[in-house]
Amino acid sequence: MTFRHKHILGIEQLSKEDIGFILDTADSFKEINSREIKKVPTLRGKTIINLFFEASTRTRTSFEIAGKRLSADTINITASSSSVVKGETLEDTAKNIEAMRPDIIVMRHAASGACDYLAKRVDCSIINAGDGAHEHPSQALLDMLTIRQHKGRIEGLKVAIVGDITHSRVARSNLYGLTRMGAEVRLAGPGTMMPPGIERLGAKVYHDMNQAIEGADVVMMLRIQLERQGKTLLPTLREYAKFYGLNTQNLQLAAPDALVMHPGPVNRGVELSSYVADGIQSVILDQVENGVAVRMALLYLVLGGEQAE
Ligand code: CP
Repeated sequence: MTFRHKHILGIEQLSKEDIGFILDTADSFKEINSREIKKVPTLRGKTIINLFFEASTRTRTSFEIAGKRLSADTINITASSSSVVKGETLEDTAKNIEAMRPDIIVMRHAASGACDYLAKRVDCSIINAGDGAHEHPSQALLDMLTIRQHKGRIEGLKVAIVGDITHSRVARSNLYGLTRMGAEVRLAGPGTMMPPGIERLGAKVYHDMNQAIEGADVVMMLRIQLERQGKTLLPTLREYAKFYGLNTQNLQLAAPDALVMHPGPVNRGVELSSYVADGIQSVILDQVENGVAVRMALLYLVLGGEQAE
């Protein structure tokens, strides 16, 4: 199969075949990450700019590691270290970066649609590392890789996604990806954090978390995106933790071998008890590990994969 996407802007644009191909490519890169010398010359001579306008631990670091393991030159720019603080526009910033001839810009931005906007204005590849409440495609891909690794399939699984669905780009990307791969997606959260009409995208919507996780093969917990909410939080954190927190008691409603997932950062004691976050059903650190392989696959594939060994 040939991968025909120059940009990765969202899972919405990817077919079932595209997603399967990315996951297979990521699987083949996982072997490199377990070697003693974790470096191959695949993207030697290529330049990747990580342009992050929002905070990140996992995504920025793993894109940087992924680029370095493929021998690309990888440069990190954050909002605070760039001329954005002097009032430069996103388009001017990107055009000036592009004048230095990078091959890929990986961007995280607070505005939904910022990566699509950039992709129409520059010639290099754009990879969305999270844009507002819109999409976080590499996160959904690493989540799907982790599910496939542990369950051997995605099709037919019941996946409950619980939390602040309205403001979660992770939920939206996973909803597109998991339904396309044949999973049953159940969304649960308070009415104030559930976008009206989301069921039109193929999800079952619940406001009772216990109903959503009953018999689930995967329980994916989300943090409340306080930075995207107004000043008034409804429900309060205490109420939220009581009704939408995962703990050892309500986890028993899920399938006995259910996976517990979280994109991070985890707010322990709010959406997830420490006992569950660190428990035997938690695959949170496998998600992080798989993030490197998925991002290696994306960097490789958007450049056409022509330099494969
Ligand atoms: N999951 C995720 O996007 O984590 P970071 O914000 O640390 O990148």
